[in-house]
Amino acid sequence: MSEALRFPEHFLWGAATSSHQVEGNQDNDWSEWEKLGRVARGEQSGIACDHWNRFEHDFDLARTLGHNAHRFSIEWSRIEPRQGMWNEHAIDHYRTVVKAIKDRGMEPYVTLWHFTHPRWFAHAGGWLNPKAPQLFSRYVAQVARAFSDVRFWVTINEPNVYALLSYGIGYWPPQHKHALSAYRVAKHLAAGHRRAYEVIKTMHPSAQVGSAPNLVFYEPSNHASSTNRLVSRLVGTWYNHRWLDWTHMSSDFIGVNHYIHQRVRFGSVLHPVVIEPQGEPQTDTGWQIFPQAIYEVLRIAARYQKPLHITENGIADAHDTRRQEFIHNYLVNVHRAISEGIDVRAYFYWSLLDNFEWKEGFSKRFGLIEVDFATQRRTVRPSARWYAEVCRSNALAVVVA
Ligand code: FCB
Repeated sequence: MSEALRFPEHFLWGAATSSHQVEGNQDNDWSEWEKLGRVARGEQSGIACDHWNRFEHDFDLARTLGHNAHRFSIEWSRIEPRQGMWNEHAIDHYRTVVKAIKDRGMEPYVTLWHFTHPRWFAHAGGWLNPKAPQLFSRYVAQVARAFSDVRFWVTINEPNVYALLSYGIGYWPPQHKHALSAYRVAKHLAAGHRRAYEVIKTMHPSAQVGSAPNLVFYEPSNHASSTNRLVSRLVGTWYNHRWLDWTHMSSDFIGVNHYIHQRVRFGSVLHPVVIEPQGEPQTDTGWQIFPQAIYEVLRIAARYQKPLHITENGIADAHDTRRQEFIHNYLVNVHRAISEGIDVRAYFYWSLLDNFEWKEGFSKRFGLIEVDFATQRRTVRPSARWYAEVCRSNALAVVVA
């Protein structure tokens, strides 16, 4: 027997992308860094999915896949290629993008910052520069002025991932490895978010503005051990709560990006946090599949008493053998949170298209739509057709015993 888990009326369903990962032909701090050969196999983002030119076709596909919303990001380096010089051509381009999304009956979700910067900003110290929040908010003002018809704004994408990878462990550009710098960058990103919130709300009081931190479900590897429980709580406070504590007062909603579950235990004084190896099935990125984790992170975010929008959740699965089951099982847990009274209003699968996965390059395939990067041919994956039924019916069919 099967039954349908219904989602709330007006629930938004779609997929997300980011400018650097899909558009192609970038001239920003990441494209500069890629030239140093630091990306897997020496890859560079290049023309990526050529989405800059093919967005209309890509949105046609999203519409045929039942999406009623679409999340994308605006590339700061295109809008302000030199400090204080505003590129009207780029602004017009994104106006056409917003219109193309709306013309297809989808709600645009605009992200203002998704990891990449104009080169002049990076050379002036990036987010370590105390002036960064102010510089960011000037760009936000230009964009907000041009887009009075956008309702949903995501200011900052995954500040915690960026601070950690770019400044904490030095994995991403600018590969600056210093705990204090990581803290300062996170602080400045939070100030940038708050300024952006003020700017947008002053211009468009009815706009809905939030940010999209990455939330991880940390569990003690042994629940009976009080030190494991303490370590797990401290890591969760530092990684999940810090950003939300700093920003929730300037947010109309909380965007939740979720991928990861980790079991942690106490190691030693020098290395207090040890992440246990994963037993459960993993994705092509080696991340564990653990559907209950999305329910747990929704509970974490719900403490701030704001509507929640799942701004990213997805799987790298080149052969599309696990994606349908992944989305199904994660949505069962989203539904569970909703049925317990948590106000979840949107789900964006990451990603609409296979794309340039940062330091991992093109091999990690997250797309509902497969992209052949040699020909730019798009092929809709079977899991995308299944997800289309969920979007269209606003319900998930589940088998009951
Ligand atoms: C998130 C990023 C997104 C994408 C997915 C897989 O951390 O926001 O750009 O890379 O992971």
